[in-house]
Amino acid sequence: MKKKISVISSVLVLLLVLTLPAFGSHHGTVKPEKKGILLVAFGSSIPEAQVAFEHIGKKVGEAFPEIPVRWAFTSQMIRKKMADEGKNLDSVAQGLANMAEEGFTHVAVQSLHTIPGEEFHELKQTVRAFAHIPEGFQTISTGLPLLGDQKDMERVVSAIISTIPEQRKPEDALVLMGHGTPHGSNAFYTALMWQLQLQDPNVFIGAVEGFPEINDILPILQKRNIKKVWLMPFMSVAGDHARNDMAGPEKDSWKSVLNHGGMNCEVILRGTGEYDEFVEIWIDHIRNTLNRF
Ligand code: CO
Repeated sequence: MKKKISVISSVLVLLLVLTLPAFGSHHGTVKPEKKGILLVAFGSSIPEAQVAFEHIGKKVGEAFPEIPVRWAFTSQMIRKKMADEGKNLDSVAQGLANMAEEGFTHVAVQSLHTIPGEEFHELKQTVRAFAHIPEGFQTISTGLPLLGDQKDMERVVSAIISTIPEQRKPEDALVLMGHGTPHGSNAFYTALMWQLQLQDPNVFIGAVEGFPEINDILPILQKRNIKKVWLMPFMSVAGDHARNDMAGPEKDSWKSVLNHGGMNCEVILRGTGEYDEFVEIWIDHIRNTLNRF
């Protein structure tokens, strides 16, 4: 699901800025303070995956009851697919343009990504463009994704350990499917795996579009004589990757690869966005942003 839209999105931002009637129309007047939150996710077209977004939205609303929450989705492909079904989702630029028109003065943009990869940096670029609009927002800032710093890593380790199903025995492996990226921040996955294994040596993290692949993990599981593997997505939603690349019937799904390698699999189709333990980390990142306003 890689897309190269940074140029297109930059142009879009400029066009929006040039065509927004709200900008520049309040010379000399001070706008009343209006804080807002913009939650930004890749998006998913799978109906069953929406529960993660609903849960995140509910928890953020409870944490900041006075502050309006808006959503934007970075995937052009998903936005197009949803538009064909009659559901119009905003891009980041469109979401921010709407908030400017609505008179928001302080906007906390929160990335619901897992690692600070390409999409997070593109998001920051778009937000930076909006920060420099005359008479636009007074303050706009982007919160770090789930894994922002070492403290987040430690909290995510605890969150993963605490969400492992009770029925999983210590001799069973847990293999998490991260998304992965060609960006250098792909290293977060292996760094996190090392910290997880200090607590539970049979927990692994692979990436569907990055390193390590399932074929890097398989020989280690075989060497340890693992008979049963619990598979869980390490993405905010259990969407297309979780349902097909991880748990699907195709020969190259992680489940099929592990079955072929002599292991039984239990599949958990829940994204990190469905668990309070992970959502609280994103919420604290929003709180950090709001505290700076
Ligand atoms: Co993808």
